[in-house]
Amino acid sequence: MKSPRLIQIARDDPQAVRAELLAGLVAPTATIAPKYLYDALGSRLFAAITELPEYYPTRTEAAIFSREMRDMARALGPVDCLVDLGAGNCEKAARLFETFRVRRYVAVDISVTFLRDSLACLQREHPEMDMLGIGLDFSQNLALPAEVGPGPRTLFYPGSSIGNFTPDAALAFLRQAHAASQGGALLIGVDLVKPAAVLEPAYDDPLGVTAAFNRNMLLHLNRLASTDFEIADWRHVAFFSSADSRIEMHLEALRDTTVCWPGGERRFAAGERMHTENSCKWRLDDFAALLREAGFKGLRHWTDERQWFAVFAAESHDA
Ligand code: AVI
Repeated sequence: MKSPRLIQIARDDPQAVRAELLAGLVAPTATIAPKYLYDALGSRLFAAITELPEYYPTRTEAAIFSREMRDMARALGPVDCLVDLGAGNCEKAARLFETFRVRRYVAVDISVTFLRDSLACLQREHPEMDMLGIGLDFSQNLALPAEVGPGPRTLFYPGSSIGNFTPDAALAFLRQAHAASQGGALLIGVDLVKPAAVLEPAYDDPLGVTAAFNRNMLLHLNRLASTDFEIADWRHVAFFSSADSRIEMHLEALRDTTVCWPGGERRFAAGERMHTENSCKWRLDDFAALLREAGFKGLRHWTDERQWFAVFAAESHDA
């Protein structure tokens, strides 16, 4: 039996992480990048969010895949190399292996330790498949190492994680994806614009799981930047901005509070907010235009009956 190869691409050193976080904290509107929502507890809380009745994206996307997978496979043809961006437990990609006739699987996530067990397990189920795990913060730079092998590659980016980029950053990311696919394709999940009455409860659920997910970021910051945030001083805020077509998540100070760290501090007045995440919601035509601007061609898409979510397949080569 083959065994998965694992590679960790250098991660930011703790000093650089601390400097980035503190620069965000002292900015006129304090802003922390959403990747800091995901420490070990944050990842578990996100998994819990995907089970909430109000959080429709995960189950809507899964239903589109179950219903349309054969059609998607026909559109893309056999997949020689599937590159799974943000692979986590590798479950979503593993469901594609048979129908897409995947020969080589490359799982990418921020830390290779997240991938080790899942890949070992998958390799037992698919002993003949080549498997590679790469630890890489691809939100910064999607240059894949030479170990991935020559193209064409099919990049798989489900879950509407593209929504966590601003439109400009999404375009830059898609351009990098186009280059990284080396003449292959992209299969990507995108959350669509819908009424605020549906969107807002998905990001502010009555059970308070999303609030815990957002507020847990403060515990993560306390560890990474030696800050002294008190969770009880902050509340979760999420709303849909139709002007920017996005859900915004913030943490709002419940009272005047001063956050300290070695060598610095920041005062927050009661009601002042710290911006922690954007989750952009796209219109079908606008996302298709973005893919074309990034260089993709031969676009196809599949949606659910309510048109709440879409999966796009896009080719990098001339048809
Ligand atoms: C990971 N990402 C696509 C999720 C989203 O819907 O934007 C993160 C999330 N934030 C709050 N709930 C879920």
